[in-house]
Amino acid sequence: MILERKTEMKTVFYIGNESIGCLLQTVYGKLQLLHLGTPLFPEDAETLDASRLLGWGNDVLYADGDPASCMDTIPLAWSENGIGDYRESSIELVSGGQAVSGDFIFSSAEILTEEEGEEVSCMPHARGPHETLKLTFLPSNCLLQGISLELRFALFETALVRQTVLENRSGQSVFVTKFMSSCFDLHGDFRMSTFDGGWIREMHRHDVPVTFSRIVNESTNGSSSNRHNPGFLLSAADAEEDSGEVYGFNLIWSGNHYGSAQRAATGYTRVLQGISPEDLCYEIVPGRRFETPDAVVAWSKDGYNGLSGKMHRFVNSCIIPESWRYRERPVLYNSWEGCMFSFTETKLLSLAKKAKKTGCELFVLDDGWFGARNDDHAGLGDYAVNRRKLPGGLEGLSRKLHAEGLQFGLWFEPEAVNPDSDCYRAHPDWALSSPGNRDLYGRNELLLDLTKKEVRDYIVESVSAILDSADVQYVKWDMNRCSPVSGNKAYDYILGLYEVLGRIFGQRPAILLEGCASGGNRFDLGMLCFAPQIWASDDTDPIERLDIQNGLSYLYPQSTVGAHISAAPHSMTLRATPMSTRANVSFFGAFGIEFDLDGMQSVDESELKESITFYKKHRNTFQFGRFRRNPAEKGSVCWQVTGEEETLCGLFHRLLPAGPEIEWLQVKGLDREMRYRVESRPQLLRVKQFGGLLKHILPVRIDPEGAVLRIADHHYKMADGQYASACSGAALMSGIPIHKRFSGTGYDPAMRVQGDFGSNLFTITLEK
Ligand code: GLA
Repeated sequence: MILERKTEMKTVFYIGNESIGCLLQTVYGKLQLLHLGTPLFPEDAETLDASRLLGWGNDVLYADGDPASCMDTIPLAWSENGIGDYRESSIELVSGGQAVSGDFIFSSAEILTEEEGEEVSCMPHARGPHETLKLTFLPSNCLLQGISLELRFALFETALVRQTVLENRSGQSVFVTKFMSSCFDLHGDFRMSTFDGGWIREMHRHDVPVTFSRIVNESTNGSSSNRHNPGFLLSAADAEEDSGEVYGFNLIWSGNHYGSAQRAATGYTRVLQGISPEDLCYEIVPGRRFETPDAVVAWSKDGYNGLSGKMHRFVNSCIIPESWRYRERPVLYNSWEGCMFSFTETKLLSLAKKAKKTGCELFVLDDGWFGARNDDHAGLGDYAVNRRKLPGGLEGLSRKLHAEGLQFGLWFEPEAVNPDSDCYRAHPDWALSSPGNRDLYGRNELLLDLTKKEVRDYIVESVSAILDSADVQYVKWDMNRCSPVSGNKAYDYILGLYEVLGRIFGQRPAILLEGCASGGNRFDLGMLCFAPQIWASDDTDPIERLDIQNGLSYLYPQSTVGAHISAAPHSMTLRATPMSTRANVSFFGAFGIEFDLDGMQSVDESELKESITFYKKHRNTFQFGRFRRNPAEKGSVCWQVTGEEETLCGLFHRLLPAGPEIEWLQVKGLDREMRYRVESRPQLLRVKQFGGLLKHILPVRIDPEGAVLRIADHHYKMADGQYASACSGAALMSGIPIHKRFSGTGYDPAMRVQGDFGSNLFTITLEK
């Protein structure tokens, strides 16, 4: 619901539904934020108006002689320099060669019931039922006559989406050096959580209190980045997983971004979100508009889990392309970690047969199928199929995979070029470079300049031709280096990327697109508008994934998180983890497998097959169920998903402590009165992991390094202790003790042996 109420002095706007409420009013032509958070009533505006706080001391008054007009003390939803507000500005402009403060004054309001108005670029937007409040402001500054500012507030079911547009109807260019998508002055004490890291350690959560120094969450590497995800949270000091107020912020944008929070002496915290202003000096020529990306804000009083629930719903219902909304993702096999660049068609078909046998539905051929791409020094930019590896071409391979009953998926890295490629030799000027600088390489590649039409056309035509020739059902769209450019060029690059993605996949909605940028260097809402899922990280070690997937879970639903079982020891960490844990962690995402299946022991093969069967049975709950982070002992992680008829809980451990404490399982959101059956998924243990200790349980002594144990290990696995019981929802929600873990003595068949990096997956269903 969006309401507008006018009085002689002010106009009040209420934007709200069951999820969120926002009260705004115009004062002195500026936009005051009266409230953002719990849904309220339009009538509350009068009482919430704190602008009667008078300016004092050395404050500057916006209306001379009117002590209530101090912009530095009024909570605002947009602000500029030069109006007496000394907090961070939302916009900075240059006109006629000098910095000019906007001083924009409210002019008109419109309530749009559905999307109206021209979109000037390929900027992706949230889609789905919504109403929009469009407020237009005109500058009082005589140097900016003809420029208008539009602030949009779009109300979706679980989130509010803001966008800003600047239009130049003057006779001369104006330059944007900073232009935020949103600005909110929020009242309260906050903790800010950001999700940071780097390659193979993306999305680690970090918390800092919001104080008087500005906290900035920014990316400048050309992508939304693995350094700092654009999404962040502000939570009340007492917020926990299931209680307390939490605001979540995100941006529908895949390039350099900026988010900041800073407390002022009035107790208000200014929160800004938008594109990064670094090196930005964007010319808006007469007659043109500059659109910011959409900024998303959601709010919950039910802690982090409450906020995640709203963000997940928003992403699944309003961001994911319509053809893939709530549509189950296939179990895929990806050739990368198993083969890297070295494969033949025979090898791929052998892997495909095994993948099919274990239950995979889609076979993805990763890097190495084109040009001279036998390592990462050559071939990017070219699309000619390597006939030595694939004598029947992609068509031949695709036909054979389809005959096996598998879908066919293909990897591309269309934004990049190796200097050793036909593409670069023919068009060296297509490479993206920083003006005047020498070329800098990342993974031996340069980026193509997506701001050039001929480059975009080349990519669209090349990729489309392959997709149409080879009956492709899935594409992994990769991008493996950071950008050499910043500012305007980096901004235009992302618009170019969106145009390319829209042109290729807009016409092919049946293709499942998975985003990837060295893993999670571009995990954001912008990419999710095109790609229903994104490869979360090149780190598939399940213990590393506990942090990565946990971080993602605050803002992104499981269906969007590419998660695969890979080999142990792991290629990134050398850590050896049990298959059960690799599976249990990957289940909480868009699941697949990614290691060489040839030579796999039969015991592993059957365990893998059982894992995939289990995932498929519960796939809808894993991908679309309501996700929660549950309490677990220190260092451990517990995730829960609840579907229509079941709840699934994963309990994950890092190191097994000696003499572990009794462990409790706590499940959320059940019916107190009903009785539930709790069962752990059957798991297996490697015989070899017990080494010489086997002498304690066997009648004969076995050499821990000898052939007997090796052979036994290949053919036999021991069942780990399984848990099963039934109790009321009330007991489960308060917590139940589960079978103890191995602690040297007191062996019992029900004991969960586990060892380091052990885990369990519990199914909780109504007792029949
Ligand atoms: C990146 C991706 C990997 C794989 C390789 C191929 O690193 O993140 O998953 O596709 O490229 O070169």
